[in-house]
Amino acid sequence: MSLAVQFSEYGNPDVLRVVDVPPLTAGPGQVRLAVRAAGVNPFDWKVLRGYMSQVMPLDLPAGLGSDVAGVVDQVGEGVTGFSVGDEVLGSSLTPSYAQAALADATALVAKPASVPWEVAGSLAGAGITAWQVLRKLQVAKGETLLIHAAAGGVGTFAVQLAVARGVRVIGTASERNHEQLRALGAEPVTYGEGLVERVRAVAPQGVDAVLDASGRGEIPDSLELAGGPARVLTLVAFDAADTGIQVHRAEQEGGGAEALREILALTLDGRLRVPVWRTFPLAEVAAALEVSQSGHLSGKLVLLPS
Ligand SMILES: NC(=O)c1ccc[n+]([C@@H]2O[C@H](COP(=O)([O-])OP(=O)(O)OC[C@H]3O[C@@H](n4cnc5c(N)ncnc54)[C@H](OP(=O)(O)O)[C@@H]3O)[C@@H](O)[C@H]2O)c1
Repeated sequence: MSLAVQFSEYGNPDVLRVVDVPPLTAGPGQVRLAVRAAGVNPFDWKVLRGYMSQVMPLDLPAGLGSDVAGVVDQVGEGVTGFSVGDEVLGSSLTPSYAQAALADATALVAKPASVPWEVAGSLAGAGITAWQVLRKLQVAKGETLLIHAAAGGVGTFAVQLAVARGVRVIGTASERNHEQLRALGAEPVTYGEGLVERVRAVAPQGVDAVLDASGRGEIPDSLELAGGPARVLTLVAFDAADTGIQVHRAEQEGGGAEALREILALTLDGRLRVPVWRTFPLAEVAAALEVSQSGHLSGKLVLLPS
């Protein structure tokens, strides 16, 4: 038996329990991991609260999490790239808020020894999304990208991937995150009323593209600053699809392993940093999700199951 986080009813994080579960077995093309770190993403508490139940119905009890880093302890039929004992990171198939998880071998990459577990476990969800978005928006060297919620998980990766491509980044955040954004290479502006004027103060011609990782009513301002919907993309404001902007769903896009390789290469080069704000043991999963739900973070939240 091993420990896993489960919930039997949708609700707040206090419905979560850490329970003993039977061992998992790696199927064809899969590996089983002893999970060392599982990154927390807003998607996880949205699932817990039932916000995803229409598009992603679950059989309860169910678990949470898909960002994972761990050690391969079983290899399924047909897997050639990994062996028992390998340290890996990526996305899991079964919930990663657990001591053991299964993953498709194609969704994993090798973890470099110098990358700490808590960083390795928080790369996949936010990092892959940011990489996909830049590909879709086709931001090129010399262009200006505006990112709403730039100091969040996705924003932090998007800022650094864009800067590494020679893109100028203007990012919205609360004042307490401005210094962190500057350190990552972005020009911070405060979100809220008067945003268009504040962005125009640093970019009088407007911006070439916009990534909305906030979803708090920023689309009209984004359309004005980008001069139209073609290069405005949201991760959250699905109800704004009728404006002609791009609505992104990471799970429909692919490119995960390629994205992780680029993110790791930039990390090893010292050109990309993943700030980890807080780590939690599995038993404190409810506290981790409460912090994530608060919506104001200074880096990734990570569970350390073992
Ligand atoms: N569609 C997809 O495929 C997809 C994929 C990944 C993520 N997402 C979604 O994208 C969103 C961002 O994810 P994340 O992991 O980056 O979240 P996160 O790490 O929780 O970051 C949230 C950010 O929101 C900012 N924020 C809070 N209040 C704000 C306001 N009033 N205006 C503007 N920004 C505000 C915060 O900045 P301060 O701390 O500075 O206040 C914080 O940096 C989530 O809703 C997530 O579910 C969607």
